[in-house]
Amino acid sequence: MYWIQRRLLFVRFDAGILPDNRASIRYAPKYWRSILPTGVGFPDGVAVDPFCGAGGNAIQLAKTCKVIAMFIDETKITLVRHNAGVYGCAGNVEFRQNDFFTGPSGQQANVVVTSPPWGGPKYLLEDSYSASVLCEAYGGGEVIGRIAKSMAPKLVLHLPRTVDKSECVAIAKMLCFTRIKFEDNFINGRLNSTTVFFSL
Ligand SMILES: C[S@@+](CC[C@H](N)C(=O)[O-])C[C@H]1O[C@@H](n2cnc3c(N)ncnc32)[C@H](O)[C@@H]1O
Repeated sequence: MYWIQRRLLFVRFDAGILPDNRASIRYAPKYWRSILPTGVGFPDGVAVDPFCGAGGNAIQLAKTCKVIAMFIDETKITLVRHNAGVYGCAGNVEFRQNDFFTGPSGQQANVVVTSPPWGGPKYLLEDSYSASVLCEAYGGGEVIGRIAKSMAPKLVLHLPRTVDKSECVAIAKMLCFTRIKFEDNFINGRLNSTTVFFSL
């Protein structure tokens, strides 16, 4: 399905975009353009995407601010840099190899904006998606939130449309985020995913 949507999502797909895998094209610039304006716009800020994949979020963010795009696999950084070049914004992106869970953390940006691994498409079979499934082996959404909070005071997570919102509220409380906001994202009129905004 996501492969079929490749030109809808990456409007410049035929200009040479390299997806890191077929699923990754769903997190594409056109998609993020529809999500970001209401909650995220940092003309003077720095955003970090610690799970940057093929660069969909990072590329869209790089049109409004400086971006630190992190990729676990050093060999694929070339891919993200290439894709940012297709959209003419590579100059606004600093590329870093980093494992989110074991690499260095520390304050470095105004906001973390990211699509962490959801654990594959099996979420489509469940009525409710628990944030504990996010990178489960490392401790789930709470651990992601904790590390992200050490990087920036705001966190924007792109999550499955069925995410358990009360669980997200509980995570926000645990991590002392005072505000949380949810936005449902639609593609072609169909509910596609949910963006969760956490801030101090
Ligand atoms: C949901 S995808 C992000 C897609 C991305 N927004 C895009 O436009 O392609 C999550 C990405 O995180 C990467 N990843 C998985 N574990 C990671 C880790 N521990 N640290 C950093 N990146 C990781 C995966 O390789 C995958 O590319």
